[in-house]
Amino acid sequence: MLQLKLLALTLIWWSCINLDYAAAATRDTRLINSGCSPFNASNTRSFFANVNDSISELRGEISNQSLHFGTFKKSRGDVNTYTMFQCRNYLSKNDCLACFNNASIQIRDICKIANGARVIYNDCFLRYESERFYQQTNELGGGVTCGNISSNATNLKVVGQQVLNDLQLATPKTKGFYAATKTKVDGDRAIYAIAQCVESATQTKCLDCMQVGFNNLQSCLPNTDGTAYDAGCFMRYSMTPLFADNQTIDIRPYLKEGGSSKKWAIIGGVVGGVVLLLLLFALQWSRKTKKVHRGDILGATELKGPVNYKFKDLKVATKNFSAENKLGEGGFGAVYKGTLKNGKIVAIKKLVLGKSSKMEDDFESEVKLISNVHHRNLVRLLGCCTKGQERILVYEYMANSSLDKFLFGDKGVLNWKQRYDIILGTARGLAYLHEEFHVSIIHRDIKTANILLDDDLQPKIADFGLARLLPRDRSHLSTKFAGTLGYTAPEYAMQGQLSEKADTYSYGIVVLEIISGQKSTDVKIDEEGREYLLQRLFINDTVHV
Ligand SMILES: *[C@@H]1O[C@H](CO)[C@@H](O)[C@H](O)[C@H]1NC(C)=O
Ligand SMILES: *[C@@H]1O[C@H](CO)[C@@H](O)[C@H](O)[C@H]1NC(C)=O
Ligand SMILES: *[C@@H]1O[C@H](CO)[C@@H](O)[C@H](O)[C@H]1NC(C)=O
Ligand SMILES: *[C@@H]1O[C@H](CO)[C@@H](O)[C@H](O)[C@H]1NC(C)=O
Ligand SMILES: *[C@@H]1O[C@H](CO)[C@@H](O)[C@H](O)[C@H]1NC(C)=O
Ligand SMILES: *[C@@H]1O[C@H](CO)[C@@H](O)[C@H](O)[C@H]1NC(C)=O
Ligand SMILES: *[C@@H]1O[C@H](CO)[C@@H](O)[C@H](O)[C@H]1NC(C)=O
Repeated sequence: MLQLKLLALTLIWWSCINLDYAAAATRDTRLINSGCSPFNASNTRSFFANVNDSISELRGEISNQSLHFGTFKKSRGDVNTYTMFQCRNYLSKNDCLACFNNASIQIRDICKIANGARVIYNDCFLRYESERFYQQTNELGGGVTCGNISSNATNLKVVGQQVLNDLQLATPKTKGFYAATKTKVDGDRAIYAIAQCVESATQTKCLDCMQVGFNNLQSCLPNTDGTAYDAGCFMRYSMTPLFADNQTIDIRPYLKEGGSSKKWAIIGGVVGGVVLLLLLFALQWSRKTKKVHRGDILGATELKGPVNYKFKDLKVATKNFSAENKLGEGGFGAVYKGTLKNGKIVAIKKLVLGKSSKMEDDFESEVKLISNVHHRNLVRLLGCCTKGQERILVYEYMANSSLDKFLFGDKGVLNWKQRYDIILGTARGLAYLHEEFHVSIIHRDIKTANILLDDDLQPKIADFGLARLLPRDRSHLSTKFAGTLGYTAPEYAMQGQLSEKADTYSYGIVVLEIISGQKSTDVKIDEEGREYLLQRLFINDTVHV
């Protein structure tokens, strides 16, 4: 997929190269990269009214204030739209405006009614999303476009590498995250180079992005030009002037090591301490206020629709579904750890659903639906694979496995803060499934084994939507209800009555287990006799945990 994209980009490049830009004054309007969210805006009217408003606001900021970077959030009802633009700083106001105007038309041409879109040009970029993305830098994974003309300058490679290396180190330290240099190569030939991060990024994220850009862009040398881009940064070099000589920026001060670093370390320590204290206060406070802001969510442009994986690739990824790769056995089949060709680690679930024509028909549409569910407390479905009778789902991989391994296994002991976070996060994920996603999804099998924990021990609910794949006649008690003993609401287990409340009941059991550390199905034997968790908590006069 990536290779194809690169090939396509290279082809675009080739078809444009003979435009031959003569001087710095001739602006470069080539589209370098574009991306559209695979999902359409759910309320197109409000969303694009927001987009239009944001575009005119940002256009105003360019023309009235000569800004080269801007973000704008616009809301209508509960429809939010986040927009960002950036011009390369060497552009005049009018050139910036021209690029922006072009971008604002092309972005709609390319992405139609998608709820996220990005266009990247050599001169500027524009992006909008339905989620906040301002701090993102590397999420795109980085792309590079190299010119196809090889230079005859023998030392271009050496000089070029030095130039790009200096830029990646200096740019994150400059004000405004921007640097532009001109460096002599030989005779009267020089290499012009610029690097830029979005101004809303942090210094660390800018540096991360620069490093990827630097690695990618080096591969263009010794060709006469190249461009590397990512979600939050841009790097370019060319042997043709990109800007006037008086527009370069002296980056030498940012490359010096040591010097006043000790003084800064002390100041940094003091400031850091104060900031830490303030952060602690802020944390306390934000916990009291209902909404906790957790920074950026991946914009939808970076998300992909469900991928159709090849069976043979998944076979290779899991070493032919070997026992050694098996992570566990769930209600719907075995789960394996797999390493895809691109190095990404995933969880691969081989479904056992039995033969049913409903499933054959519905599988793809259900997978599409489930893969559309994005929430930080829900495990993301990446794609699927259908081969003969095989139905396989591919999920993001959770390194810390599931909650039951912590509560009842030997994964370690959770402290109260972690337990609190898990209880809250699970509730958020469940509320999203029930109320916020456009189709209400009842999970039907909420239990500790279905709550996975990420690297930060934040919970993510797994297996949601799968019960929808069961044939209707199997979806209630008669043969096998889609639940687990000990967690299932009585009215669902006995009468097959299904509503969101069944999930809420199971969630309650999970909460009790998290607090008590006792399995709902385990009998606890003490001096008062044999008791199940629920008996122990509610049948006695006092509730004791
Ligand atoms: C670069 O691409 C142009 C346009 O496709 C082509 O005419 C030219 O021969 C290529 N140059 C090299 C060195 O491959
Ligand atoms: C988005 O809308 C376009 C029509 O503009 C349609 O062709 C496409 O299938 C829709 N995509 C999704 C994911 O619904
Ligand atoms: C947004 O602007 C475009 C182009 O100016 C126009 O075609 C479209 O109708 C506008 N959309 C909304 C919702 O205002
Ligand atoms: C820019 O100036 C125009 C006219 O002077 C005004 O209508 C508009 O509100 C201004 N926009 C911004 C963002 O300042
Ligand atoms: C935008 O740039 C392209 C060239 O990449 C050009 O063909 C098009 O006319 C431009 N559109 C506008 C509105 O300037
Ligand atoms: C390199 O190419 C340029 C034209 O691009 C030419 O003027 C110059 O003489 C060449 N230098 C060498 C060393 O071949
Ligand atoms: C840079 O030089 C141009 C003339 O080549 C001049 O018009 C411009 O004002 C100069 N800019 C700065 C910042 O000195």
